[in-house]
Amino acid sequence: MATLASPRHLLGLQNTPREQIVALLRATRQMERAMGAGRGTNTNAYATALMGKVVANLFFEDSTRTRLSFSVAAKRLGAEVIDLQGQTSSVSKGETLIDTATNIEAMGVSALVVRARQSGAAALIASRVHVPVLNAGDGRHEHPTQALLDAYTIAQSHQREDFDLAGLTIAIVGDVNASRVARSNIACLTTLGARVICVGSSQLAPKGLETLGAVVTHDLDPLLPQLDAIMMLRIQFERYESKDAGKEAGKELGKPTVIASVREYRSQYALTAGRAEKLKASAIIMHPGPINRGIELDAEVADGPQSVILKQVSNGVLVRMAALKTMIEA
Ligand code: CP
Repeated sequence: MATLASPRHLLGLQNTPREQIVALLRATRQMERAMGAGRGTNTNAYATALMGKVVANLFFEDSTRTRLSFSVAAKRLGAEVIDLQGQTSSVSKGETLIDTATNIEAMGVSALVVRARQSGAAALIASRVHVPVLNAGDGRHEHPTQALLDAYTIAQSHQREDFDLAGLTIAIVGDVNASRVARSNIACLTTLGARVICVGSSQLAPKGLETLGAVVTHDLDPLLPQLDAIMMLRIQFERYESKDAGKEAGKELGKPTVIASVREYRSQYALTAGRAEKLKASAIIMHPGPINRGIELDAEVADGPQSVILKQVSNGVLVRMAALKTMIEA
């Protein structure tokens, strides 16, 4: 599996050297400084960096934040953007992802941003095209730009100038096993020196995750006072097929699931207002989105003073500007 170490692709962060991650985070900080007062305009110092380039978003799975922030990022750099959404493309007529990607490459685009349900899809496409591929989420495997924006937000919140996260304890809570965000974050945050603890039931946070470099525990409450950041994950109902498990919760979202009930899940793993009170005042509350309010996270906590959720979204544009510029210019 190619990683960030591939010269022109951003496919994942597992086995990626620290200096490459830090280089992208430093590039993100340059973007932040350049955008500065010009945020929300196209007058930044990099406004013409990708002038004349076309970035193609190939999204074979739904997205709000990732697709639109890649689009905003490309436009802030002066590139044009074309969008393909799987459900309205010729994939519905049986065309493969590779044929789709090679046809779009043949139109003369400068980069492909790929989201797909299949783990490894972005790497497969990267092996068949000649332009940079940026993985925007592949199945349960990786979501590298999400982890980079999360690391950037943690470093910013805890004033870690050169992205050294040593001494910080970060919990990733909920459906860790189905989460590409978690896999990329475990790789990224541990490489930057943080201690990462995955929290969930034995099904949602199996001990096997420890092979990735995280600690696994099934008990959230004792951890709360020692955390510097807590990253809440939604249960990815769409990735479970069981017809029997969790009918109560499944009915509420129209899908079967791996939890017995929302009530039981919340009693152990939700970040409720009561649990949030046990966090340090300096701890930040994170969520990659989309949030299922009232399940993994109480609305008042999501919107409260320790939440950096919308900061994560803003930083997502900066990280994607840095990633697009770095990969296209490589
Ligand atoms: N965080 C994230 O990947 O959100 P979207 O699915 O909306 O892109």
